[in-house]
Amino acid sequence: MKKVIIANGSPRKNQNTAKMCESFANGVKEAGGEAEIINLYDVDFKGCRSCFACKLKDGKNFGRCSYPDGLAPVLDKISYADGLVVASPIYCSDVTGVTRCFIERLTFPFFEYKEGYPSIAPKKLKTAMIYTMNVSEALSNQMYPDMFDKTEFMITTVFEKPVRIFAYDTYQFSDYDKYVVETFDKNKKLKSREEQFPNDLLKAFEAGKNMINS
Ligand SMILES: Cc1cc2nc3c(=O)[nH]c(=O)nc-3n(C[C@H](O)[C@H](O)[C@H](O)COP(=O)(O)O)c2cc1C
Repeated sequence: MKKVIIANGSPRKNQNTAKMCESFANGVKEAGGEAEIINLYDVDFKGCRSCFACKLKDGKNFGRCSYPDGLAPVLDKISYADGLVVASPIYCSDVTGVTRCFIERLTFPFFEYKEGYPSIAPKKLKTAMIYTMNVSEALSNQMYPDMFDKTEFMITTVFEKPVRIFAYDTYQFSDYDKYVVETFDKNKKLKSREEQFPNDLLKAFEAGKNMINS
């Protein structure tokens, strides 16, 4: 059975990004695969420490991250998986810091410092990225014209170009009336949550099915 690991880079385990992850997982299961969601905020780890054990000549950990923290078993699981999904809300115009740390630790060991930077990943994993954000699709295109390419550069280099799934204009607060929010209209947000978000969930579900079937 094909297995997909879904890394949720949102601190919230039951909001927009988590729901997109669940929908993707349901698509994987519908297609006969196995899916596991890992909440990165529950994992005790930091970004790359620049120890270079992964690049040491004749080193026993050449080409793998051997730093012994909470991420080690997660990286191990990914090495046996067939697919990987990285999901993140947009924070301050990029993925969350935790997601960024995860991508560093996952990909840098497979990025060989040789002409053309060949990948030495043991497997060309199928990959997908899920992004959720406050801004509309039009504003995202205007504000982040190349951010997604940059964020995905290492994943694309060491594995395969990820499939992208977006949820724009997400519903951020449980009760908009309790917070100072002048730039986002509560009623427009409600409309988006009721009308657009179910379509986004469906896209995640279909992408989950495709990852297994393709
Ligand atoms: C610290 C922080 C920074 C954010 N920065 C952005 C941003 O730059 N652009 C954007 O569109 N949304 C931004 N947002 C909104 C979130 O991306 C959006 O609400 C997202 O869907 C939240 O995902 P979640 O429900 O899984 O937590 C930010 C939210 C937080 C908490």
